[in-house]
Amino acid sequence: MKNVIVLGAQWGDEGKGKVVDLYAEFADVVVRFQGGNNAGHTLVIGGEKHIFHLIPSGILHPQKKCVIGNGVVVNPKVLLEEVGRLKERGYLQDDSQLKVSHLANVIMPYHVALDVAREKKLGDGKIGTTARGIGPAYEDKVARVGIRVCDLLKPDVFGEKLRNNLEVKNFLLEKYYGAKPFEFSEVFDEYVSLGERIKVYVDDTSRFLESEMGRGAKVLFEGAQGAMLDIDHGTYPFVTSSNTTVGAFATGAGLSVKRAGSVIGVAKAYTTRVGGGPFPSELNDADGDYLREKGQEFGSTTGRPRRCGWFDAVVVRYAHRLNEFDGLAITKIDVLTGLPRVKICVGYRYEGKVLDSLTPEIDVLSQVEPVYEELEGWSEDIREAKEFDDLPKETKRYIRRIEELTGVEVVLVSVGPERNETILRKNPFR
Ligand code: GDP
Ligand code: IMO
Ligand code: MG
Repeated sequence: MKNVIVLGAQWGDEGKGKVVDLYAEFADVVVRFQGGNNAGHTLVIGGEKHIFHLIPSGILHPQKKCVIGNGVVVNPKVLLEEVGRLKERGYLQDDSQLKVSHLANVIMPYHVALDVAREKKLGDGKIGTTARGIGPAYEDKVARVGIRVCDLLKPDVFGEKLRNNLEVKNFLLEKYYGAKPFEFSEVFDEYVSLGERIKVYVDDTSRFLESEMGRGAKVLFEGAQGAMLDIDHGTYPFVTSSNTTVGAFATGAGLSVKRAGSVIGVAKAYTTRVGGGPFPSELNDADGDYLREKGQEFGSTTGRPRRCGWFDAVVVRYAHRLNEFDGLAITKIDVLTGLPRVKICVGYRYEGKVLDSLTPEIDVLSQVEPVYEELEGWSEDIREAKEFDDLPKETKRYIRRIEELTGVEVVLVSVGPERNETILRKNPFR
């Protein structure tokens, strides 16, 4: 297959960054197509840790092009911070390695302020967003009042759009939320200058991708978040503001769906979630604490402790129905090492019946009771395993059971955070 799409199969933080970095070796271009800097994708290479919020996880491979597509909401400050950090570490020495779509919507400071103010007002009922202005920026895009990257480069166009936006946003911030308003000239000057600084990366990325593919390039698409956070198919309203399922790759990159190749779902060997909303297999006990501590389950973007629970086969089966995965990448299986028994959620009990499929309606999902299957654990250190057969028989049984329950073949097993702590069973580009 020419192109590969990597997607989260749970509630985000499945280890997509690591998988994308690994697959990037076999690709020519890596593309982000939705979400924004709510994402936090972590790569560990030779003991050095990199966290990317916006720039695709292929950027550490100097010869691979990286694209931020039109479907992404771009915070230019975060973009420049990431660029700066990369350059300091000796990466991104050639600016032509990175392209940002001229059509991507910009996250403005009032989006962040609105996100924060709204969450504060919601109190206990808050969504638990990353406070990065993601929702408000996508709202403006859909309301057709958003400021796009190309607008930033035209001060007169930008000025008019900014003035119109500030009239409404300042009213809301001041009068409704009791928050501080923004000064036109300050925002204008700052963002015109940011526009100047990101200009070197701005391009018609849809055309760029088309032309690269015309020359035979292989493209790797890097999803952010996960299926359960999809704006339509996730646990609404406890979701993010973009589609995180497979169709988004085409609209978010400006390509035909015919360009899709293999679709790889990434899932942790257990489950985590940050923020509010239902989570049937959540563990509020010692096992949950064990997973959080051993798995270092603290958000890469906000540092918040992640909620932890057993692997939920109903969730991953649902993600598979939406995306039709060609393979699953199972990450962090080393975290389960040392548990005498491990559990997998195989169904939900609801109103006396057992459901084997998921409805994302939260009134139902928050009342279901997980039905578990117990498997034997293992205690051997598996971080050195290079082949599937290097794994203890209990680990192999656990993975095979995941395959049976989800109906998807496990094509990659990650046994540690490092790039080389990986069992690549099948290369999706072949
Ligand atoms: P993403 O948002 O899907 O890219 O995932 P995050 O980077 O937010 O969270 C995954 C975390 O797990 C990161 O800290 C990774 O370094 C780490 N990680 C990835 N794979 C493994 C693994 O197989 N074992 C362990 N122990 N850590 C891993
Ligand atoms: P990656 O790409 C995990 C969650 C937030 C919150 C909800 C809405 O690293 O997997 P938002 O700021 O998007 O409006 O927040 O979505 N969320 C994520 N959870 N991983 C992510 O990204 C997330 N991006 C957003 O915690 O519950
Ligand atoms: Mg993450």
